Amino acid sequence: MITPDISKFANVTKVTTHVLQEMKLKNEKIAMLTAYDYSMARLLDKAGIDVILVGDSASNVMAGHTSTLPITLNEMIYHATSVVRAVKRALVITDMPFGTYQGNSKEALISAIRIMKESGADAVKMEGGREILESVDRILSAGIPVMGHLGLTPQSIHKFGTYVVRATEENEARKLVEDAHLLENAGCFGIVLEKIPAKLAAQVAEEIKIPIIGIGAGPDVDGQVLVLHDMLGITQEFSPRFLRRYHNLSEEIQGSVKSYIRDVKTVDFPNEREKY
Ligand code: KIV
Repeated sequence: MITPDISKFANVTKVTTHVLQEMKLKNEKIAMLTAYDYSMARLLDKAGIDVILVGDSASNVMAGHTSTLPITLNEMIYHATSVVRAVKRALVITDMPFGTYQGNSKEALISAIRIMKESGADAVKMEGGREILESVDRILSAGIPVMGHLGLTPQSIHKFGTYVVRATEENEARKLVEDAHLLENAGCFGIVLEKIPAKLAAQVAEEIKIPIIGIGAGPDVDGQVLVLHDMLGITQEFSPRFLRRYHNLSEEIQGSVKSYIRDVKTVDFPNEREKY
């Protein structure tokens, strides 16, 4: 559990969007990680994480797809429901999956309501700026908190063609800053900035009053998010510069499984004490 020497918000019993805003005002960095299931979410929450994102990265990490596009609304609701069952303190944000909000604000509202009603999540996250503003507006008008996501937006990978750093050119950088203002003015409670130059991210975090959470956006933003399976070293094939690995769980898990296989084959397991 986090203690008051690390966080001024250690004693908060439930993180809300208002708590995140307070954190920004008090210069406390927000720690956010993804989770997709009950067991992991429980560990993260007990450790004191501020925000859990039920990311559509579940499409890659949990289901083995090569992009976030195939995951469905029902699958996201299943993951979110499992996470919500485990969490007491963290704010739980659920990604709206590809195809459930782009280009049709009525369908967007129906999708967001399903996420909130069926999973019990605290908020939704959507990728894009001006293109999705009508959907953002409609969802906000129903009282559902919305987080934006700009920069590298993986649901548009087929438009971009690659996962390289975004907004390095002046035009794209200008559009990103404008979009961040549009999302803030619409009433979003925060924005994720993914894989953009640190200087640009710092400018956005300075200009925009709502919390800005970075992934590959440098240190001068209001918080950081990583994909849990990447930072624990369960996934190995993905190694961008921004990823800090805190563990090498893929080796540890394989080592444990090999030991188990050996123990079963040699009839070392179960032993006298492990039987009835
Ligand atoms: O789906 C996800 O994990 C995300 C993070 C990369 C921010 O959107």
